[in-house]
Amino acid sequence: MSSEKNKLRKAVFPVAGYGTRFLPVTKASPKEMLPIVDKPLIQYAVEEAVEAGIEVLIFVNNKSKRAIEDYFDDARELSDHLARKNRPALLEKITGIVPAGVSCVNLRQTEANGLGDAVLCAEAVVHDEPFAVLLADDLVRSDGAGCLKQMTDAWQNGGGTMLALEEVAAQAVSRYGVIGGARGGDGLWRVEQLVEKPPPAEAPSRMAVIGRYILQPGIFDHLRNTRPGVGGELQLTDAIARQIGSQPVRGLNYEGRRYDCGSKLGYLRANVEYALEHPDIAGEFRDYLKNLKLP
Ligand code: UTP
Repeated sequence: MSSEKNKLRKAVFPVAGYGTRFLPVTKASPKEMLPIVDKPLIQYAVEEAVEAGIEVLIFVNNKSKRAIEDYFDDARELSDHLARKNRPALLEKITGIVPAGVSCVNLRQTEANGLGDAVLCAEAVVHDEPFAVLLADDLVRSDGAGCLKQMTDAWQNGGGTMLALEEVAAQAVSRYGVIGGARGGDGLWRVEQLVEKPPPAEAPSRMAVIGRYILQPGIFDHLRNTRPGVGGELQLTDAIARQIGSQPVRGLNYEGRRYDCGSKLGYLRANVEYALEHPDIAGEFRDYLKNLKLP
């Protein structure tokens, strides 16, 4: 790969879904702003992207999602207030949200026509370079390098498209894009087939695609030429499936633990497990759980 084509600088965060599984709270507030203890989901995804070397954060919002735009914007009044009150630790919490050298672009998806449509909205900003897509409601906790960093490291050698994969239970495959293919000597999967939300009997494997992707700009043409799929929505996986055979499509069985924070149970699990490690409350929260009498 030439040097400008193997550097991953831009990441797209589609945050324009309706989040219906979290109604009523998502009526006026985006799902991606739901907190895990004290930080919104979207910030965890942004931190993971920045760790992987991303310099441009591209948010695809819908019209009622000003909250995300505001969250990553300067909060001058609040910072002045905290500075006046001499609260440097709190001030640091809000000034470091977007690190130096990283910029934000806010775009709008006019209607929630699917993840593929949301990614297509970012074409003019991504332009002609590879890019990452992160779905913030898939929260991934890793002991070492974050999920996107693991993917980027694997992707540097060989390029193409890189998917993050996880083995799921047979009865869960119908909630995911599922790959068919074989694992190479380097541990990466060579993706030969990709099916969105297959019934368990038709799934090519139990290796499911989670909400992290490294894509080539050619995906935009495929998205334009893909018809709406499952649920009448433009599916990103259908467009990726069209690339198989014409460029490498590989998958990494990432190391880490994923919380499906688009579901109530996954969200609550994440909150409990992150709280048990949070420096402000870990001890007291552990005691509380130990003494909790379950009905
Ligand atoms: P989901 O499939 O979780 O859909 O989207 P959703 O609408 O947000 O939530 P439910 O299923 O109604 O509860 C996965 C990701 O893709 C984004 C969402 O914001 C989420 O981050 N998305 C989805 C868009 O940006 N636009 C869309 O049209 C659809």
